[in-house]
Amino acid sequence: MLAVLIFVLVLPTPLQVEAKFKSLHCTNYDKSYGEILLCKIKAINRYRNSISIQFRQMRTVNNVHMRLEFFKRANGWRPFLYNISFNLCDFLSKRNNVIVSLGYEYLKPYIPITNYTCPFKKNHLIKCTDLEFDIEKFRVRFPIETGEYALQLSFIVQRKVTLTLNGSAEYYNYREH
Ligand SMILES: *[C@@H]1O[C@H](CO)[C@@H](O)[C@H](O)[C@H]1NC(C)=O
Ligand SMILES: *[C@@H]1O[C@H](CO)[C@@H](O)[C@H](O)[C@H]1NC(C)=O
Ligand SMILES: *[C@@H]1O[C@H](CO)[C@@H](O)[C@H](O)[C@H]1NC(C)=O
Repeated sequence: MLAVLIFVLVLPTPLQVEAKFKSLHCTNYDKSYGEILLCKIKAINRYRNSISIQFRQMRTVNNVHMRLEFFKRANGWRPFLYNISFNLCDFLSKRNNVIVSLGYEYLKPYIPITNYTCPFKKNHLIKCTDLEFDIEKFRVRFPIETGEYALQLSFIVQRKVTLTLNGSAEYYNYREH
């Protein structure tokens, strides 16, 4: 008890910026394509947390499209900045989309095998481990103000959404208030 108290008292400066994940939903719409093995938010400390996701591919898939939708919370979720659809296989071989490339560069350190290419083979394990929300990397490129944001990724195979991953993150900058 005393140790906890001392720890609290010696905390350096009051925290002024807070950026962490608030929710995560992984929804599998067609289990014949694969299964979600892991989908969770883990606390690192009071101010930081991380996301881990694992998906095992059950069928070989030759062509995958993706949709990336951003939202900002304001009386429910409102579309924000981008809503992009692209061919994931083309992107992985050609890196032909600037916005998607930015996202990919951000994710790369958290995806152990960085050179995914199509086809996605049967039994392949797609994983993202201990992904953190580093607000500074976003702030240099996007006009992000205090609030809650969400990103939904949909995987589309043969025109059907097979899997969606959506997560939200909260960002507060107390200096701006
Ligand atoms: C994004 O675009 C797709 C296809 O045009 C549309 O169905 C979807 O509702 C849009 N999402 C948002 C959040 O506006
Ligand atoms: C991954 O891709 C990079 C750049 O495209 C290439 O230099 C590297 O050799 C590739 N690594 C593997 C393991 O294929
Ligand atoms: C994320 O998915 C959950 C479950 O399907 C849904 O309730 C929520 O509204 C979604 N969030 C966004 C921002 O679309």
